[in-house]
Amino acid sequence: MLDLHSHVLPGLDDGAPDMEQALAMCRLALDDGVRLMAATPHWYPARDPLTMGEISRAVGALRVALASAGLPLELVAGAEVALDPDLPRLAKEGVLPTLGGGPYFLLECPLHTSPRLLPDLIYSLRLAGLRPILAHAERTWAGTENWDWLQGLVGQGCLVQVTAASLTGKLGSAPRKTAEALLSLGLVNLLASDAHSVNWRPPGLSQAAAVAERLCEAGAAEVLTRLTPQAVLAGEEPPPAPQPARRRGLFFWRK
Ligand SMILES: [Fe+2]
Repeated sequence: MLDLHSHVLPGLDDGAPDMEQALAMCRLALDDGVRLMAATPHWYPARDPLTMGEISRAVGALRVALASAGLPLELVAGAEVALDPDLPRLAKEGVLPTLGGGPYFLLECPLHTSPRLLPDLIYSLRLAGLRPILAHAERTWAGTENWDWLQGLVGQGCLVQVTAASLTGKLGSAPRKTAEALLSLGLVNLLASDAHSVNWRPPGLSQAAAVAERLCEAGAAEVLTRLTPQAVLAGEEPPPAPQPARRRGLFFWRK
């Protein structure tokens, strides 16, 4: 499996505080069957954001530590980019950090407010050759019941990421219900851990993948955890989002 959203780089944000914790997170990921992790620290355009060089250096240091510890986890540099009206300009200047330097990047949208600028902004970003992945969509305004709006963003070419711990219920019943609902609508492209530590949103995708496989058509887990992340890192068109399993209609969304 490939996990494209994590805060594993030590000391850069509210994720791993030090190298020891970062390695512990990597061990958990490997034990769960994750072979590649994208390191995606928070990136706030308005708050003196990390440079791509800083992120790359932190990824390089963690790679060295992984090799020393004999841990065969691949790392890819990225960031979780906060929504900001300046993003198209930053994209044109080539300073917006993308996943592995390709066209896709994680975009973090607000939870409680309607990001009215988003459709125009996505239009501009697409013109600049970039493709947003809506981070933890089940915990954003568009993802929590404003689904027509979310479908509009998908129609503009956005991908939708849901957090594994939301789908397994570890973040509470509301995120779980929303994650299930998004799956039932066939709107989810990939699962990721959004791991912050070994305890809080820990690494690992297998439990959530099993839930998705149960709720969706056969092969959903592979699409959500391997095929789509691979396509993203290769800069290719991803496979279609898995559709819900056909059992007595839209069966599983429990309000
Ligand atoms: Fe995150």
